[in-house]
Amino acid sequence: MVVTAAAPAGAALYGKHLLSMRQFQRPDLEHLFSEAEALRDAAEHGALQAPLAGRILVSAFFDASTRTRLAHETAMLRLGGGVTGFADPEVTRAGGATQESLHDVFRMLSEYGDAIVVRHPETGVAAVAAHAAGDRAVVINAGDGTGEHPTQTLTDLYSIWRRFGKIDGLRIGVVNDLRMRCTRSLLRGLRDFDCTVYAVAAPGKGLDPQLRQECAERGQRVQVCEDLREMLPEVDAVYSSPTILDEVSDRTPADDMLRGDAPLTAALLDEYGHPGLAVFHPLPRKGEIDASLDPTPFNGYWDQAHNGVPIRMALLSLMLGCK
Ligand code: CP
Repeated sequence: MVVTAAAPAGAALYGKHLLSMRQFQRPDLEHLFSEAEALRDAAEHGALQAPLAGRILVSAFFDASTRTRLAHETAMLRLGGGVTGFADPEVTRAGGATQESLHDVFRMLSEYGDAIVVRHPETGVAAVAAHAAGDRAVVINAGDGTGEHPTQTLTDLYSIWRRFGKIDGLRIGVVNDLRMRCTRSLLRGLRDFDCTVYAVAAPGKGLDPQLRQECAERGQRVQVCEDLREMLPEVDAVYSSPTILDEVSDRTPADDMLRGDAPLTAALLDEYGHPGLAVFHPLPRKGEIDASLDPTPFNGYWDQAHNGVPIRMALLSLMLGCK
């Protein structure tokens, strides 16, 4: 067994694989937020110890990433641990002529590291990794196809909580492609809080009925709107998501319906949003968030990107049992 320390306060995460936001209960999330605050504060004051010294994080990225891989690696390095792995399967035996099975790749990686952070274009591969790793290493799902992206949601919830000092009572609008893994995980994470969700989908990209049913069963209210102009005056926060490159549309805010794929611009927010509204986006953006929003108080996405490191520091500490 890779984890040898005594069970930590965040026992729900200790020694467990992290595959889905379904695994979290509200106290786990609140505990993570407070751990992230403590670690962030220690880092800012030069008081961070090296609680993960001697531990190894293995990055297994079968698909492109800027933020998720580097935020996990930065978090591990800041905590005194080491990092190895790959950002391109073609440089491993998983690619090229060999095409080693995913099971065997992850079985190998579990012999080398204490935690394996996995991104793969196919839904369900993080679960394959967890099965192969068994209890030798913990697996973190860093995005599996259209499945889930739980560490992005931890970053998102932490960012919303930091911005507003709470999540309960907020009205949160999700826009654009509601089938994306970031949005799917976020909706699962928000179910633990007393907030109202508004949704404006891009044409043909609405919530999948099963997820909607899951939300309803947990008492999550999802108010579907036709148009951004209907939703923006009602919400405290807007969460947009990346557009798949081959689906980029050339529509503009002048388009008649202002559906979920209309770009969020400073002019649109000034006209329809209230002054305290915050816009979040996991990035990379491809036209969903106009550059005119960058210098405005609506911008929540740069802080959100920054928050990706302290929340992963908290996650790794709790999963590897150093607290
Ligand atoms: N937010 C996110 O997952 O970004 P990357 O694809 O760059 O990791």
